Amino acid sequence: MTTKDNVLIFDTTLRDGEQSAGIGLTLDEKMEIARQLERLGVDIIEAGFAASSPGDFEAVCAIAKEVRTPTIASLARCVPGDIDDAWEAIKGADKPRIHTFISSSDSHLMDLLRKNPEEVLDQAVSSVERARNLCDNVEFSPMDATRTDIEYLYRMLEACINAGATTVNIPDTVGYALPTEFAERIRLIKENVPNIDKAIISVHCHNDLGNAAPNSIAAVIEGARQVEGCINGLGERAGNASLEEVIMTIETRGDALGVTTNIDTRQIYRTSRLVSDITGFPVQPNKAIVGANAFRHASGIHQDGVIKSRTTFEIMDPHTVGWPSSSLVLGKLSGRAGLRSRLEELGFNLDQSQLDLAFQNFKELADRKREVTDADLMSLMSMQRRRQDVVQVYKMERVQVTCGNGEIPTATVQLVNPDGETVTDAATGAGPVDAVYQAINRIVGVPNTLTEFRVDAVTEGVDALGDVTIRIRQNGNSFVGRGSDTDIIVASARAYMNALNRALAEMEDQKLPMEPVPTS
Ligand code: KIV
Ligand code: ZN
Repeated sequence: MTTKDNVLIFDTTLRDGEQSAGIGLTLDEKMEIARQLERLGVDIIEAGFAASSPGDFEAVCAIAKEVRTPTIASLARCVPGDIDDAWEAIKGADKPRIHTFISSSDSHLMDLLRKNPEEVLDQAVSSVERARNLCDNVEFSPMDATRTDIEYLYRMLEACINAGATTVNIPDTVGYALPTEFAERIRLIKENVPNIDKAIISVHCHNDLGNAAPNSIAAVIEGARQVEGCINGLGERAGNASLEEVIMTIETRGDALGVTTNIDTRQIYRTSRLVSDITGFPVQPNKAIVGANAFRHASGIHQDGVIKSRTTFEIMDPHTVGWPSSSLVLGKLSGRAGLRSRLEELGFNLDQSQLDLAFQNFKELADRKREVTDADLMSLMSMQRRRQDVVQVYKMERVQVTCGNGEIPTATVQLVNPDGETVTDAATGAGPVDAVYQAINRIVGVPNTLTEFRVDAVTEGVDALGDVTIRIRQNGNSFVGRGSDTDIIVASARAYMNALNRALAEMEDQKLPMEPVPTS
């Protein structure tokens, strides 16, 4: 039996993914994603772009200090200050990497950099040299490589490998390439860059035409041995290659591709949920691998086939990607040990205090809902995480609403303020959620605009948990809030408190005054 070549998985959820419009992660959230990426087994985590902001610098530093198994990379433009900052941020890692990039296409050289090709080539080479003097592991990316004159690309890659680049990355920055063209470009690079065997070829594909994952796989077929992408396909504009799609294509079609990865695929579903949860970016139901319908069979013929033999209509076993089982349910008589073992099977290893809290939340839910499924447990765990992550400036105690046909929706809410005092207020609104939000506004006094409001059912049935995601804009910043409950008004209130507490924590960081909300 021949051994399969390894394809390195480079996760850039915390860098390119964080560039998605509307995402802004706190340090704790980045840490949590990084820890989960380590459990998933990615080879490289691009933890951020250290020189881009003090917050990014701090996050890259913190990840480099704590997350030991993967290589930790920071992005850097080909400028000395960026490279030095990147090194400062990652030098605490067991396996640090500087990833430096510069544009290479005519369009970028003329309209973006306004420099001539030789100047840019020199800048690339001196930057790689500088990075290599600091760090043994250096990745170089010619940005917009797929629209770059190929002879110039060969020269640039050769010179940067000579200068010390250990990985050369070929970005399809604008998602323009076709799979056949991209594969051809990788093949030509292998044939025409004389020292290419001294570096690993990486690819970084954007999804503007929906070809990011197919382009990445086409490159792997031609010899690329590192693929960059993001969980759930996050990233600039239409996103990057979705890592779960790339990984499962390699795992499922390793027979044809002759390659494998170091990934623990059973962590895929949990990673996807965590990233969606933290970013507030939902996963579309028909998304490959991790969408709600990915393993659901609707038509009678398909259902009949799967009952007779799973492989008739399923090319992957859902358990291999850590998909929660719908047949295993817990109920109100289930004990702590049963809960612990089910949570462990779902990938949650809790310490005693986390388990105690999870058990308390589980019992509350089991009282209201006959059967608690894996999906419910995952939702409970994300709620628990949210409560622990976000400083509870205000805590919600009670919500009560009267509404209905011919009624004026009226809400009474009771919160505990930062001084520990219980404050109660009431308001009317256009509907019950509006009434609750108005009542909360009267107490908290943080003017904001609600820009997104979404309710999803975690499972089927009228007793399902409702998961509410909202986004508010406050002082030019966007804050996501999530909340779950079998009562969707309570879930909506929790989501609002979650977003407001984030906004309040940010205001506290920046020492902004709280203004009273004009009440109607
Ligand atoms: O898309 C791109 O070209 C990038 C580079 C910085 C690698 O993200
Ligand atoms: Zn990119």
